[in-house]
Amino acid sequence: MTKKGDFISLADFSAKQLWGWLELARDLKAEWQAGGNRPILKGKTLGMIFQKPSLRTRVSFEMGMLHLGGNALYLSPNEIGLGGRESVADVARVLSRYADGIMARVFAHDHVVELAKYSRVPVINGLSDATHPCQGLADLFTVWEKLGRLSGVKLAYVGDGNNVANSLLFGGAKLGLHVSVGTPAGYGIKETVLERAAAFAAETGGQITTTHDPFAAVADADVIYTDVWTSMGQEAEKAARAAIFPPFQINARLVAAAKPTAIVMHCLPAHRGEEITDEVADGPQSVLFDQAENRMHAQKAILADLLA
Ligand code: CP
Ligand code: NVA
Repeated sequence: MTKKGDFISLADFSAKQLWGWLELARDLKAEWQAGGNRPILKGKTLGMIFQKPSLRTRVSFEMGMLHLGGNALYLSPNEIGLGGRESVADVARVLSRYADGIMARVFAHDHVVELAKYSRVPVINGLSDATHPCQGLADLFTVWEKLGRLSGVKLAYVGDGNNVANSLLFGGAKLGLHVSVGTPAGYGIKETVLERAAAFAAETGGQITTTHDPFAAVADADVIYTDVWTSMGQEAEKAARAAIFPPFQINARLVAAAKPTAIVMHCLPAHRGEEITDEVADGPQSVLFDQAENRMHAQKAILADLLA
């Protein structure tokens, strides 16, 4: 049995492949809005492994499979004991005998890579400590939908240099965006990620810049993006981070420093009053809930391509 491919990191794909999924997401969204999708995945199943909580990822994958005529099975954090009760390789070997695809949300990125190595069916990364490629693809789809272009768009990511930021850097660089990252010192993007993203940007005319000044980061930005200061698994650092990050809050003052037409994005869940104020999250420039909806459309494109 030969699987079509895995979806582990946006760094693994060409601009052509990314555009293929963006265009398919657009078409599937339009079809769904017009009354429903064709059963492209009739009778197909997706096994979903979760080591961490989720609202968007779980529900958007499950509903997406239903829309396309298939089914999804939720496997809770305690159920499988990935790497504990059973080795990651054996989980992949067994689950891929039952399901046509596997989606996994894990702590260690190596675990999703290992699942892919031993699975006979496509493995989709539903967030690891290193990357969140489904979020990144959906976010590029949202930017394209809202601004009508991707190449040359300035996306300012302000906050923690985390998994979501890494995927925005990889995907943004591949599609020719200027990704401007503003983080506190000590919470920046890993050098290896920056180097890879810069290499992609050099090929596409994209640009990667970093700063520790949030106002410099958002200057002339078309998109302002943030995420929580403390990601899942970092809870012990919450107090220390809460003392350092406040200058990086997305509030009305910071939004005013970007283009007047700038849109505001957040992958959610938001810690309102920390990384983003209510005023901005619920304000006229916010696209937060269209962005959340688009997770479903972008993932349906990935599913329709890899599992059909
Ligand atoms: N953005 C995102 O992945 O949300 P969940 O953690 O709720 O899945
Ligand atoms: N950076 C966050 C994203 C949640 C969707 C986390 O990893 O918790």
